[in-house]
Amino acid sequence: MPESNSSDPNEVARPSSSRRDPDLLRARLADWLPTVLDSPPTINRLEIPSANGMSSETIVLDVEWEGRNHPLVARLAPLTDSDPVFARYDLDRQFRIIGHIADTTDVAVPRLFWSEPDSTPLGAPFFVMARVDGEVPPDVMPYTFGSWVSEATAEQRSRLTETTVETLARIHAAPVPKESLDLPGPGETPLRAHIRRTREFYDWAASGRAGSPLIERGFAWVDEHFPHETDAVLTWGDARIGNVIYRDFTPAAVLDWEMAAYGPRELDVAWLIFLHRFFQDLAELAGMPGLPDFLRRDDVAQIYHRLSGHEPRDLDFYTTYAALIHAVVMYRIQSRAIHFGQASEPEDTDDMIMHRATLEAMMNGTYWQAIR
Ligand SMILES: Nc1ncnc2c1ncn2[C@@H]1O[C@H](COP(=O)(O)OP(=O)(O)OP(=O)(O)O)[C@@H](O)[C@H]1O
Ligand SMILES: [Mg+2]
Repeated sequence: MPESNSSDPNEVARPSSSRRDPDLLRARLADWLPTVLDSPPTINRLEIPSANGMSSETIVLDVEWEGRNHPLVARLAPLTDSDPVFARYDLDRQFRIIGHIADTTDVAVPRLFWSEPDSTPLGAPFFVMARVDGEVPPDVMPYTFGSWVSEATAEQRSRLTETTVETLARIHAAPVPKESLDLPGPGETPLRAHIRRTREFYDWAASGRAGSPLIERGFAWVDEHFPHETDAVLTWGDARIGNVIYRDFTPAAVLDWEMAAYGPRELDVAWLIFLHRFFQDLAELAGMPGLPDFLRRDDVAQIYHRLSGHEPRDLDFYTTYAALIHAVVMYRIQSRAIHFGQASEPEDTDDMIMHRATLEAMMNGTYWQAIR
């Protein structure tokens, strides 16, 4: 988090006070497991990794039953006293969406075990899935700063692009699980509803604080530039390579369905493009070359068109809207870091948004022409 005053980016992402006690967790899990298993389980391993996870907690588990060790991952909703990033977490909804994707598409998702919507057993709702082997492009330090992605060949990165965009196309071809998604209100289109929910998230994040004039301008811009809306589909939401476990540059598991929504396909296409630009801009700001030719806007759009038959349109709008959503998330994460005493309130609240220059340039219409 370059804009913060904290020296350790992981501490900004997951302030220590929001973490759980592994011993306590192990004891409570040991009590809960027999409620879903017939034979007595043994917990061989329980770890709370520190590298990832700004929202929910990810727990790495090895549980043995029926004479076999099962590598698992549990996703727990954050404790309410940890001042969570989002206003609400619905882990059971994520579990249902992953199950729906598994049942209706060829998209690789982790095999699901159990969902526990009750907070009593572990203190928060959670679900358990199989642990999938492979590599995730890192966020901290960003993969553009040097990682297995930048060390790969251009051909391998092309394969990653192709297989990831193909994954988007397959998700969008799934039947819409309407019972698991927030649907538009009366007279509201899916995109309008999406923007309204982003606005509600911002209003919640900014309540009782100095807001961000840039974000306010962003919402006005989005209204003024509202595009012709294409058919709504099931969108993954947090559609970025940092939420994919890759093997051989091909998705072995698509993770993180928290932001799944009913809306135009362009939401996912633009999020994929924008999140790479976000990490690319950070690399360039730090004086590094990054990966300027990777996940290029035109390439992603062309591949998506070829694989889905749908030509993404209004990407100026959707990438700007992606930058706005990300700005709200950044604003919220920085507010949280300030709350935990790990950053101080900047004089200019727009400085809480580390990609403010990108969002400003997108709104001015100068961003894309400055890129080769
Ligand atoms: N089923 C799984 N198998 C193996 N590793 C997993 C699995 N689920 C999650 N992980 C690991 O945990 C990390 C975090 O998972 P995920 O992206 O779902 O949540 P998150 O990082 O908390 O969300 P956010 O994107 O908001 O930070 C992944 O990058 C991956 O390393
Ligand atoms: Mg994630």
